[in-house]
Amino acid sequence: MKTRVALFFGGHSAEHEISVISARNIAKALSPEKYELHLVGIADNGRWTLFPDRQVPNDLKRADEPRTHSWPLVSLVNVGEEKPVLYNLTTHEKQAIDVAFPVLHGPFGEDGSIQGLFRMVNLPMVGCGVLASAIGMDKEVMKRLLHEAGLPSARYRLLRRGLKHSFDEIVSDLGLPFFIKPSNMGSSIGVHKIKSSADFDQHLADTFKYDEKVLAETFINGREIEVAVLGGGSDLIASSPGEVIPQHEFYSYEAKYLDEQGAILKVPAELSAGEVADVKALALRTFSVLCCDGMARVDFFMTKAGKFFINEINTIPGFTSISQYPKLMEISGVPYRVLIERLIDLALRKFEEQKKLQSKYMA
Ligand SMILES: Nc1ncnc2c1ncn2[C@@H]1O[C@H](COP(=O)(O)OP(=O)(O)O)[C@@H](O)[C@H]1O
Ligand SMILES: [Mg+2]
Repeated sequence: MKTRVALFFGGHSAEHEISVISARNIAKALSPEKYELHLVGIADNGRWTLFPDRQVPNDLKRADEPRTHSWPLVSLVNVGEEKPVLYNLTTHEKQAIDVAFPVLHGPFGEDGSIQGLFRMVNLPMVGCGVLASAIGMDKEVMKRLLHEAGLPSARYRLLRRGLKHSFDEIVSDLGLPFFIKPSNMGSSIGVHKIKSSADFDQHLADTFKYDEKVLAETFINGREIEVAVLGGGSDLIASSPGEVIPQHEFYSYEAKYLDEQGAILKVPAELSAGEVADVKALALRTFSVLCCDGMARVDFFMTKAGKFFINEINTIPGFTSISQYPKLMEISGVPYRVLIERLIDLALRKFEEQKKLQSKYMA
């Protein structure tokens, strides 16, 4: 019997379009002989739509357009049977599903929200579960865990919305320049490099638009190195590292999405054998310390002295043909199609293991 995969894509994030392209690539990579594919597109306004087999639309961001009104609404329901169903609200058809593949980025898709829904309906999911997804999205919690494990990341101070924050105090603690960023966000939204008191006054309100928690972080002057991790439990592999070379002052929203020449992606990164070994080992440790499963991309800064600092973790990286995660896996011996199949296998295996645990007291 074919494995029935529900692919979730789109969503309310700056990476909506990337998600749609990723979904199209994943759909193409899944062999029709082995997988039955069900596509759930989430519009920018939150509307869930079911698309026919392998027909990923070009753009579903604007679900208010007249043409989108014919798209059937769908929900995911636990019907009390072994498998949950995708329930087509237009035709009332029910489709049992074996595994969810979320290829959503940012809040709601990558922060444990939709992972919680999958758990509620008893559906195996590709990638990190609720806890790791939430940790990975909250940079402050992530940094506390890294710190406790003795893993290096930039020093920071936590700023809370509504309180007064002294520029001078931050500078005496972290030095100048420093970075400010929302604890929960992504795509460099609300990230600013602060070089003066005037910068701080100008940008802090912007950063607080996105989260109640803002991090002020020591500036790390270094190269940006990325490592892809794949696997579960103790059976993990780290890819060869890649490098992002921003052509702007830092890897800003503009450099990521608005300027086609905004960054140079180098796969693999030019590093010594020792540096490669160091950063791969750190990526594996980070993955485990942050309770990850299945996949994650771990991003680092590397100083001139060759010291690595963990910048952040992305629990649902992009899956377009030019995305770092699949490219790094590819050069490390895991081609795109194999990668997608392995992620699905990992999800199913993990679920079988979890099923063995009891969820209530048995004498
Ligand atoms: N402490 C820092 N030192 C130097 N550059 C930083 C620092 N924090 C962030 N940056 C720059 O800002 C970019 C985005 O910050 P990041 O923390 O990765 O947020 P996001 O989750 O939005 O990608 C980084 O890729 C880097 O270019
Ligand atoms: Mg980043």
